[in-house]
Amino acid sequence: MKRYIFIILLILAIAGIADAGYLTYEHYAHAVPTCTINRFLPMFSDCGAVLRSKYSLIFGIPLALLGLIHYFILASVLALAIISNKKFWWFWVLIEATAGAFASVYFMYLQIGIIGKLCLYCTLSALISFIIFTFAILWMEMERKALFIYISGFVYQHFLKSIFFLIDPEVVHVSMVGMGELMGTFSLKRKLITAFLKIQNKKLEQNIASIHFANPVGLSAGFDYEVRLTQILPSIGFGFETVGTITNSSYEGNTRPMLGRLPKSKSLMVNKGFKNLGAGETMRRMSRLHFEMPVGISIGRTNGKKNMTQKQSVEDVVRAFTLFEKSRVRHSYYELNISCPNLYGNISFYPSQNLKQLLSEVQKLKISRPVFVKMPIEKSDKEVKEMLKIISEFSFIKGVIFGNLQKDRKDPSLDPEEVKKFKVGYFSGKPTERRSNELIKLSYRLYKKRFIIIGCGGIFSAKDAYKKIRLGASLVQLITGMIYQGPGLIGQINLELLDLLKRDGLKHISEAIGRDS
Ligand SMILES: Cc1cc2nc3c(=O)[nH]c(=O)nc-3n(C[C@H](O)[C@H](O)[C@H](O)COP(=O)(O)O)c2cc1C
Repeated sequence: MKRYIFIILLILAIAGIADAGYLTYEHYAHAVPTCTINRFLPMFSDCGAVLRSKYSLIFGIPLALLGLIHYFILASVLALAIISNKKFWWFWVLIEATAGAFASVYFMYLQIGIIGKLCLYCTLSALISFIIFTFAILWMEMERKALFIYISGFVYQHFLKSIFFLIDPEVVHVSMVGMGELMGTFSLKRKLITAFLKIQNKKLEQNIASIHFANPVGLSAGFDYEVRLTQILPSIGFGFETVGTITNSSYEGNTRPMLGRLPKSKSLMVNKGFKNLGAGETMRRMSRLHFEMPVGISIGRTNGKKNMTQKQSVEDVVRAFTLFEKSRVRHSYYELNISCPNLYGNISFYPSQNLKQLLSEVQKLKISRPVFVKMPIEKSDKEVKEMLKIISEFSFIKGVIFGNLQKDRKDPSLDPEEVKKFKVGYFSGKPTERRSNELIKLSYRLYKKRFIIIGCGGIFSAKDAYKKIRLGASLVQLITGMIYQGPGLIGQINLELLDLLKRDGLKHISEAIGRDS
């Protein structure tokens, strides 16, 4: 199919060579160009006026000659794309076609807006450029998206991030979420973003726990705790999203700082402590929304200075679940967050008895949707095995997520000088990756038939995501990678996952799950 497209584009490019070649000849002939006299539009059309104007040269080089060179390069690149079928040439075709179209817009503006005369041959050249550009953009969907994803990633990492990182991280977070929410409200904007960022491919689609995931990359809990991004995230290319963590009662967040940056460690300091609107308000918001992708709700125990007993904590979690279960919210799954390190009080759901008590009470609700447990990463293998054993006894728990934040301030992946800046909070990003991967592997080996595993922690590239999948994760989640690499990272991961599957001779993402465990 692509070959035929390139052949059509090549024919158009050759027409462009003929046209620009004629105009170049006219320029150097110094005679009154034949195209000056025009029978159809004598009032507006005058090649000579355009070709002899001061705008017809750039640094002494005739625009016509530049056009000829452009078409010649385009035709050559198209020929190479037809012969070799290499992606490199496809990208070049797109770049050349885009450059040609932008240049043509400018040249048309010069003719109509400044010179006030039209050169029909120049207009024909612009028309050819527009047709090539339109066909290339429409037919080369993957290349168009890839090009945009890589360019936007470059712009984000080299320009935008430097600006954002000068501003307070909380302010940037709130502003970005606000912008995302606004964009999500307009279907045209959503469609436009989809056209440039969203990668769709059957090889990435999975049905897991009776939920359809268009791709394996999700937004982890903690970024969209007020449910503002559910409408825009599918356009950016996410396959699913967890909102929250939501608690029974609302919480305004821990004492500042709630968020900090550790660029050398590729990490964020997190001290939000379940800042959220509370289950009631969240439920009302969510019940008004339709979701284009699976949306899950992360539930944890209410935070606050009021100390809760173990029994009260369990009741609090159960109340939040009950509210959502009775609501009309069209969510797909729950996460049970037992691993937030930023909470007041001494209650922990880690000791076997406490965990059993919590799960037994939640089980009584006969929850209608799959539940995944968000696990800690700071526990030893032995402790994690004990927890997994208990969790495995509760059939309503379909899977586990590895995992939450890094509590160990001395973890070698953290830069000690950066850590010193923060008296409070725990760490996301690269410092979570090693332990997350170890625990994915451990639980896949022990419970691959019992648990669906979601890998989370330190994903900054497709290779990071693929590693987790090969260790046993069916799906992956991220936050910090997106903040450091930009929103284009999601499309980039999906795009490059396809390349990694091809490299390994695999036909579908599900074939990669657990290969390295
Ligand atoms: C700003 C921020 C807030 C977070 N809040 C939550 C939360 O409310 N609930 C939760 O389960 N995890 C929370 N996390 C942890 C993430 O979901 C994730 O487990 C962790 O950051 C590792 O993934 P990453 O390296 O891709 O960020 C938060 C992380 C960040 C960066």
